Amino acid sequence: MPKKVILDVDPGIDDAIVLCYALFDPEVEVVAVTSVGGNVAPQVASRNTQAIMEYLDPPRLPRLGVGSEPDDGLPLDGRYVHGIDGLGGTDLPVAVLRSLHPAEKVICDAVRAAPNEITIIALGPLTNIARAFQRDSEIPRLLRHLVITGGTLDSPGNITPAAEFNIYCDPLSAKQVFQASCIKTLIPLDVTNRVKLTLGDVDQLASDSTKVGHLLRCIIMPAFRAYRQRFGLEGIHVHDMVTYLAALHPQLFAMKSLSGNVETVGELTRGMTVFDRRRIPAWRENMNVAYNIKEEQVLTKIITGLNFSAQCVEE
Ligand code: RIB
Ligand code: CA
Repeated sequence: MPKKVILDVDPGIDDAIVLCYALFDPEVEVVAVTSVGGNVAPQVASRNTQAIMEYLDPPRLPRLGVGSEPDDGLPLDGRYVHGIDGLGGTDLPVAVLRSLHPAEKVICDAVRAAPNEITIIALGPLTNIARAFQRDSEIPRLLRHLVITGGTLDSPGNITPAAEFNIYCDPLSAKQVFQASCIKTLIPLDVTNRVKLTLGDVDQLASDSTKVGHLLRCIIMPAFRAYRQRFGLEGIHVHDMVTYLAALHPQLFAMKSLSGNVETVGELTRGMTVFDRRRIPAWRENMNVAYNIKEEQVLTKIITGLNFSAQCVEE
């Protein structure tokens, strides 16, 4: 039975890669895709999501929802890696730009329609998730699982020394979501940084003559240049792809139950994820946190799954 999922995304290159994978993954039914501001503004994330949907034309079109900026606004964006349009400058066309329901309404309606069946895979800042929980206080209890790209366990941050991008963008929402009474799993940079896509891996993707192969190269190659220039790395992280696979194939990861919280006011530590790992913790455990990964198997699954999508789109 395919797993019902909601993808909350801020495409963004790695979010877009997840869409290419998930929309044709026989193990999931993508019930809804909600856009959130992060790598790009919410409206741009929504436009990118719609453009990718039009381009891929999946067999089942998920419900779409659009987010809005956090109450305190977005402190920055991710265009330095993801390109001016969030998709590596591909300027992917969108024939019909639809006006969408608010993301939090789409989430609440989908969870209410399938109580205890929905897994939300949150791949951007947690603004939409927090707002869904505020809109309907029963949603955390009716949710099957919430899997999040975000935070750090022992690793340094990627947007400040202390904070990971998604949590840094909206720490207040992250704090609220961390404290919500639902089963949640956090996939921190400690684990997502362990998987890097190299040019050799790109060579293993479906050829440029296929729609998915072409789209992936268009969005990935500019990121290679950004990673080389900005970080001196030969390869790119695909944080959200790792989180997606953690939701579907947890056996490829090692997790531990911890009590996590978020710093929301620190001048130097805004968005830092803090865990009570004292010998006798005082905080109540509230999430599973991934701390190890079978990266080779995860990388193989990424390539295999994307090539399966490429084959489906060509049929
Ligand atoms: O820190 C990694 C996260 O920030 C990923 O979700 C990536 O898409 C960016 O949003
Ligand atoms: Ca993302």
